[in-house]
Amino acid sequence: MTSVPSLVALTGGSGFLGSHIADALLAAGHRVRVAVRTTSNLQWLADKAVETVVVDLADTDACVEFLRGTSSLVHCAGVVSGPNENSYQRGNVLPTVNLVSAAKKVWQDDATFILISSLAAHGPGSLDKPALEDDPCRPITAYGRSKRDAEKVLLEAEVEYRRVILRPPSLYGPRDREFLPLLKAATMGWTVRLGNRMTGLSLVDGRDAAAATLALLKTATASGIYFISDRQLGYTWREVQTALGTAVGRTVRRVDVPLGALRVAAGLTGLLGREASLLLNPDRMRDIDTEGWVCDGSRLTRDTGFVARHTAASGFTDTLAFYRKQGWL
Ligand SMILES: NC(=O)c1ccc[n+]([C@@H]2O[C@H](COP(=O)([O-])OP(=O)(O)OC[C@H]3O[C@@H](n4cnc5c(N)ncnc54)[C@H](OP(=O)(O)O)[C@@H]3O)[C@@H](O)[C@H]2O)c1
Repeated sequence: MTSVPSLVALTGGSGFLGSHIADALLAAGHRVRVAVRTTSNLQWLADKAVETVVVDLADTDACVEFLRGTSSLVHCAGVVSGPNENSYQRGNVLPTVNLVSAAKKVWQDDATFILISSLAAHGPGSLDKPALEDDPCRPITAYGRSKRDAEKVLLEAEVEYRRVILRPPSLYGPRDREFLPLLKAATMGWTVRLGNRMTGLSLVDGRDAAAATLALLKTATASGIYFISDRQLGYTWREVQTALGTAVGRTVRRVDVPLGALRVAAGLTGLLGREASLLLNPDRMRDIDTEGWVCDGSRLTRDTGFVARHTAASGFTDTLAFYRKQGWL
């Protein structure tokens, strides 16, 4: 007798990380139902055997219908760059509230809810003192506060199903556009260090974050909060520079931009309109003017056996090849 692969619900599947999670779930033999919006660009889902359904995550009844017949959810949808606190709360907290209560209505106790959160929910961590799951949370941005609020919704809910939270640090990889300017500058032989306080940051390839999500889904005993890091834990600026050099096959020189200059630019962007202020606003300044964004993924490895396949050098190399293939570079 052949067993029917379980149906997994996925939000955010049209985005960078979510589309890699869809790939990982399909490769593991799951059926996947993806919640999309009428406005979603489905280019990363186009060739995949997934069921797409238009769901308004602000509507609890729509969330109930979305989850009906599923036994697990990866809630990856999220606002990563918004104009104000409200936009993050609306995009990151409200859908979680609705999905948590919808799941309670339709699921059995053996179901699993995985929330893709962020290191930002915890707040900074340095190379000397990387962020750990048991630390108190001190988010320093509106984005981080909304991700922490979403975590609390899930953790404090009175439900019986399994709850897992994955907190990735900075993600890069094929399909991501955030790292495009960095890799583009590197192909011209340059990179920029913003400010001089940050000593290190964790970097994870989106494909590894997707593999970690699958590992958490498969490991029935995994529950609670998990960070993820690659085998290097955190990278200094010099190491990022070296990894960029490996990817582009040439020496990459670094320009240091002092925080004072950035503050002036951040002040000016307020006058320059929405696009510029999304790029350099007070929250972005807080992100930069901190000791680092390093987290320790040991608990994830211990509980699930997950080990990242990529380092920054190999991941940047693949990402660069992807950008070239897409004609983005
Ligand atoms: N990228 C990183 O460095 C990073 C690091 C840590 C954590 N994360 C988390 O990973 C998740 C995915 O991020 P990403 O980098 O893949 O971002 P992304 O490419 O911008 O994808 C975001 C996804 O969320 C969906 N979405 C956003 N707001 C929504 C809403 N109100 N209702 C329904 N769907 C909504 C988007 O749908 P549309 O296609 O319709 O816009 C898209 O599918 C987020 O939860 C983010 O907080 C990302």
